[in-house]
Amino acid sequence: MDAARDVPVSSSGDGRAPGDAQGRPPDRYIQLVVGWPERPAAKVEAALRNSFLVATLMLRISGPGQGAPDQADERLIGLARATSDHAFNATIWDVLVDPEYQGQGLGKTLVEKIVRSLLRQDITNITLFADARVVDFYQNLGFAADPEGIKGMFWYPR
Ligand SMILES: CC(C)(COP(=O)(O)OP(=O)(O)OC[C@H]1O[C@@H](n2cnc3c(N)ncnc32)[C@H](O)[C@@H]1OP(=O)(O)O)[C@@H](O)C(=O)NCCC(=O)NCCS
Repeated sequence: MDAARDVPVSSSGDGRAPGDAQGRPPDRYIQLVVGWPERPAAKVEAALRNSFLVATLMLRISGPGQGAPDQADERLIGLARATSDHAFNATIWDVLVDPEYQGQGLGKTLVEKIVRSLLRQDITNITLFADARVVDFYQNLGFAADPEGIKGMFWYPR
């Protein structure tokens, strides 16, 4: 299995993560595999395209005696992305690992890969919004909830 790899996304480039074994593009993958609420596919695709970083985990399957696996043998099993102002701040979104492959350190690898990549680019204010059930997962990776009393706040229509 390959380690997570960066897919830098530029405004003009085609930095989209490749689809999974069923040919689903990452937007369908996000919605179907992890069971998050469905979001408009075009908007998810735009979010991926406009992200600063998209890290993917690919499972490469090759049979005995075969050479290098081709595209058809690759399967998307994990994804995480970050948006950024390219200078100070970045926010990590959509961290997910295919349930079949969870509990093997892959989610940790994805987040660490994104954090390392941001730090290499001197982007040091790294934030995310954690679902209640994954707060401990992120705390173990060095993220703090409410540092110095700072609260994440959401706007809701009244
Ligand atoms: C959250 C998620 C990405 C974790 O991926 P994973 O590959 O299963 O996690 P890892 O195997 O890398 O776990 C790394 C460590 O975190 C721990 N951990 C994993 N999930 C955890 C959770 N929900 N709460 C607390 N700790 C957790 C593991 O036990 C492991 O601990 P260790 O280093 O002491 O052994 C994965 O469960 C997932 O895709 N969930 C659905 C999508 C989701 O909720 N994403 C987060 C949105 S904010």
